[in-house]
Amino acid sequence: MTRVTINDIWEMKHKGEKITMLTAYDYSTAKIVDKCGIPLILVGDSLGDVILGYENTIPVTMDVMIHHTKAVVRGTAHALVIGDMPFMSYHISVEDALRNVTRFMQEAGTQAVKLEGGVTVADKVRRIVECGIPVMGHIGLTSQSINQFGGHKIQGKTPEAAKKLLNDALALEQAGAFAVVFETVPAPLATLVTQKLTIPTIGIGAGVGCDGQVQVINDLLGLFSDFVPKHAKQYAKLIDIMSSAITEYFEDVKAGKFPTEKQSFTMDESALEELKSR
Ligand code: KIV
Repeated sequence: MTRVTINDIWEMKHKGEKITMLTAYDYSTAKIVDKCGIPLILVGDSLGDVILGYENTIPVTMDVMIHHTKAVVRGTAHALVIGDMPFMSYHISVEDALRNVTRFMQEAGTQAVKLEGGVTVADKVRRIVECGIPVMGHIGLTSQSINQFGGHKIQGKTPEAAKKLLNDALALEQAGAFAVVFETVPAPLATLVTQKLTIPTIGIGAGVGCDGQVQVINDLLGLFSDFVPKHAKQYAKLIDIMSSAITEYFEDVKAGKFPTEKQSFTMDESALEELKSR
């Protein structure tokens, strides 16, 4: 099976085919997502919230990202896997950004990286792309700047903020990003900016006018209840399914109904007899 490439993703935009992206953080889940044919898998720093239980993505380090990304890459054969550059892993200097991108490509085996920001990170994006590494941009309500935004606030609502979003998107395109994520921005603005760009836009809380959509898998499967964002749609309620399975197991163990013979192993009776006679 051949892996999806950034050329396939560009072709999808230009043929008007919608692009689907989903997060994954471990081997087993990545294997399912990959088998479903999802072309883009993001190992998002959202794992800080939904997997590790932090309040936000800021505590997530490169080591944590590499650990999870390796597992996701091992679970995939088809999807293009994108490693999410965590907090401050690409801000200090271009050299630092390149060192961390190298870790994603060499240690974890991703095919691309994603980073947050527009005009202010365009120099980093340009250098990474010049090294032959595909970069996905990410603008709008970017989690690593949550303290600057003062909470989960919709971005791009005023004329100045809308203009900033457009300028950031254009800066990423000019720097060579192969695609850009728009997070929590008004749908009409995301549609307009999508029409102005030649690279694909992937929305999360940015309406249907983007070229594609991304969701956090724990939101989509109903596996994370601490905070359910307005942009998430629960296609399943795994918390309910898991809770009833765990409760049934608990009851079975207490009642001596688990394990049965089916889950047990036998041995040669004579070996047992010999032991008894000792
Ligand atoms: O970390 C993440 O999951 C993301 C998506 C919300 C795009 O950045």
